[in-house]
Amino acid sequence: MCGIVGYNGKGNNTLRILIDGLKALEYRGYDSAGVAYKNNEINIVKSVGKINELEQKIDFDIDTCMGIGHTRWATHGEVNLTNSHPHHVGDVTIVHNGIIENFNEIKKELMNNGYKFNTTTDTEIACGLIDYYYKECNDIKEALVKFMDKVKGSYALGVMTKDSDTIYSVRKDSPLIIAKGENGNFIASDTIAVSKYADSVMYLEENIIAEITNDSITLFDKDLKEVESNFKLIDKSVDNTDKCGYDHYMLKEIHEQPKVFRDTVSPYLENGIDSLIDTMPDFTKYNRIDIVACGSAYHTGLVGKSLIEEFADVPVNVEVASEYRYKKNFYDDKTLVIVVSQSGETADTLAALRKAKDDNIDTLAIVNVEGSTMAREADVLLKIKAGREIAVATTKAYSAQVAMLSLIALNLANAKGNIDKEEIKEILKDIKELPVKIENTILNSDYTNIAEAIYKNDNIFFIGRGIDYALSMEGSLKLKEISYINSQAYAAGELKHGTISLIEEGTPVIGILTEEDLILKTISNIEEVKSRGAVTIGVTNSDINSKFDYKIEVPKVHKLLQPLLTVVPLQLISYEVAKLRECSIDQPKNLAKSVTVE
Ligand code: AGP
Repeated sequence: MCGIVGYNGKGNNTLRILIDGLKALEYRGYDSAGVAYKNNEINIVKSVGKINELEQKIDFDIDTCMGIGHTRWATHGEVNLTNSHPHHVGDVTIVHNGIIENFNEIKKELMNNGYKFNTTTDTEIACGLIDYYYKECNDIKEALVKFMDKVKGSYALGVMTKDSDTIYSVRKDSPLIIAKGENGNFIASDTIAVSKYADSVMYLEENIIAEITNDSITLFDKDLKEVESNFKLIDKSVDNTDKCGYDHYMLKEIHEQPKVFRDTVSPYLENGIDSLIDTMPDFTKYNRIDIVACGSAYHTGLVGKSLIEEFADVPVNVEVASEYRYKKNFYDDKTLVIVVSQSGETADTLAALRKAKDDNIDTLAIVNVEGSTMAREADVLLKIKAGREIAVATTKAYSAQVAMLSLIALNLANAKGNIDKEEIKEILKDIKELPVKIENTILNSDYTNIAEAIYKNDNIFFIGRGIDYALSMEGSLKLKEISYINSQAYAAGELKHGTISLIEEGTPVIGILTEEDLILKTISNIEEVKSRGAVTIGVTNSDINSKFDYKIEVPKVHKLLQPLLTVVPLQLISYEVAKLRECSIDQPKNLAKSVTVE
């Protein structure tokens, strides 16, 4: 959450570089934005709303070679101009991503020392604290060491002082990269912010201070001894942000799913099932798996649970990371903890990973972003190949995560001898044909007529049993996050235990029916809501006739792969509904793509 960028260079297009960087980081938050730049003195320009608003306030002719910028997802303090970053106290100006947990205590101490504050943010207090230490020791690096020792919480900082032409950075539990280019040096929350201008990049480690001038980058540990840097060339191919003619990134990303599926699974299946065994870890040593994640990634865990339990006979416990990290866990040396995350930076999931590692439990990460913290810290990484996902609502990364969990289930089922050669042959054939089937599912049905029928409703329900219940949860989350319609997912059999009282004339109920043994059961639940006035929509791989008002048929494939087709109509219905409601589809209100605070 929040995006920061900084530039110190030789060219005079600093403000353009900062604005371009902020635009690329807008996925991290878009409540307000601001930049601070140096020309003789430090100047700050801020605005409420998206980066376009800020851009209009900027005079790009101003001659400046150094600056820092910020796009905010508000944590402390309402969304307004005063609370937006950069913050400035005394001789120090900062941008911050993270949360300073003990800011109230620090605020009191600083106020006792004569400091006055104008905002309700934790960041202004952090800025005041750095200024206090800076004045005390007259050395900004020493001040940052004292700052790191004092504050609790998470931070990635870009720091400028009145008297120097250098940017300083430190971080804890929030991501930060440093990058070099021909015309200067950079800091940013994500490589994408600077890949247009920089050539090589490194991830800043915790407890290290980065000192960035216009022609050098020097790293120091907390004893202020110089440490080595380790830059790698930026892979610019992953940072393609072109919409390719689509109205929204979300639609583009839905259409990318056939390729993403192929790219994600093919490295594991070059020589059929044998290469799957060779390329994946040996899961047979575990008698329990914990899958930990947030949001849609948590939903992929629920799909994974269904598949691994059914095909590999291993109990799987799926938990929301924000709960898992603080509860008593019953894992042992025969437990594998799998974290699932598109960004690899989600604060709660990362904390759950670190907790398991601290307890000496084996960990595996299913992550999309190369080089992210989870990718680096997990014992084993299974990287999905979704490419850059820009829409806040995940689609292609969700599918790729499900695909990876399906491969794990297949691997384990095969290793335990739970599936025979014929079935494996059938699965491999389905895998080969799946990209085309996903494509047909995207193109062949009319999702707009369903969207037309339901978009004016205030309440929409998703129901399903077994794996279809897990998919209902994802369908429901997708709809509410981008269309702002209140929607709920229910286990189909559970509805009548209370929630059915909310069904009235015209309430849309989307039933997901792909679990062969359970379809007739869910049909009965559809009939129950239908007879109470619901508008019923069936998403099914069966040709069964029921009293659906609308029916979308998806191709039937092996159960290990079915969710990858079933989710497509759910994504597209949400998309079309949000479009009709004229919502901000790629950047829904109150949300951010990467949730790096708990
Ligand atoms: C889904 O559309 C959401 N954007 C959100 O639930 C997301 O899946 C969640 O925040 C987890 O993010 P991660 O995969 O980057 O860890």
